[in-house]
Amino acid sequence: MVGGLAGKVAIVTGGARGIGRACALRLSREGVKIALADILDCGDTAEAIVTAGGEALPLRTDVAQGRSTQAMAEATVARYGRIDILLNIAGIVGAQLARKPFWEIDEAEWDRIMAVNVRGPFLCVKAVFPYMRRQGKGKIVNFASNSFFSGKPPNFLHYATSKGGVVAFTRALAREVGPFGICVNSVAPGLTYTTPPPPEYNETADPTVRSRCLRRTQYPADVVGTILFLASPASDFITGQMIAVNGGSDLY
Ligand SMILES: NC(=O)c1ccc[n+]([C@@H]2O[C@H](COP(=O)([O-])OP(=O)(O)OC[C@H]3O[C@@H](n4cnc5c(N)ncnc54)[C@H](O)[C@@H]3O)[C@@H](O)[C@H]2O)c1
Repeated sequence: MVGGLAGKVAIVTGGARGIGRACALRLSREGVKIALADILDCGDTAEAIVTAGGEALPLRTDVAQGRSTQAMAEATVARYGRIDILLNIAGIVGAQLARKPFWEIDEAEWDRIMAVNVRGPFLCVKAVFPYMRRQGKGKIVNFASNSFFSGKPPNFLHYATSKGGVVAFTRALAREVGPFGICVNSVAPGLTYTTPPPPEYNETADPTVRSRCLRRTQYPADVVGTILFLASPASDFITGQMIAVNGGSDLY
């Protein structure tokens, strides 16, 4: 158990699957009430939480739309009375995003990535801030990426740029909301398998794995411990920071 989390209320964007789902399930085991916000149906994650004895509120949310994030915050407060934690995990990544040379990325695709990966966290913070300010306390965790440091993998310029935006957003926002008792940090995961690797996958030969100090595949469970720490009172004097959770990698 992690001290100080029981009874808190968290919004987890991107909670329908992948890292968001893993974080939501784990936070719930600490006694946190979870609002799951995703453009996809979060019913399955909510059911898993409730079956395990937790509380969950699935909310169909488009983080790129202000009216939708506003409704997300209002519905969470209507159900649970407060918002203590915001995990900005929703993002366009992996198979949702074609890798291509930058000269083939058109304006519409560039704007789509920025709308979800950068404007999304901004709109979610705007929606929850009034409640956190009133409480005089709050925890916000944004999701950057290892590709911010490395510029890898190649042909992922839009994605890497969006995650650089998340890092800058975290640092600048921490200065503005610190006086209200709100901490803002980010995590930068390395390449993470959110579904089982394909049969032909060879962990020993995988270049990302070989680039790590800790030579194995990364899974969502490897990220959740850092999230628990950044959401809990154990990190109350840490803000504006980024923690790389990548097994000591120098590649994406
Ligand atoms: N998996 C990785 O290798 C990796 C590495 C570094 C960083 N990250 C970051 O971690 C986060 C989670 O990644 P993941 O691998 O679990 O991805 P994923 O695709 O499995 O999950 C992302 C979730 O975000 C949701 N989403 C997308 N657009 C949305 C929108 N407009 N509004 C609301 N929800 C929306 C999706 O529906 C999905 O449920 C992302 O921010 C990603 O950039 C992932």
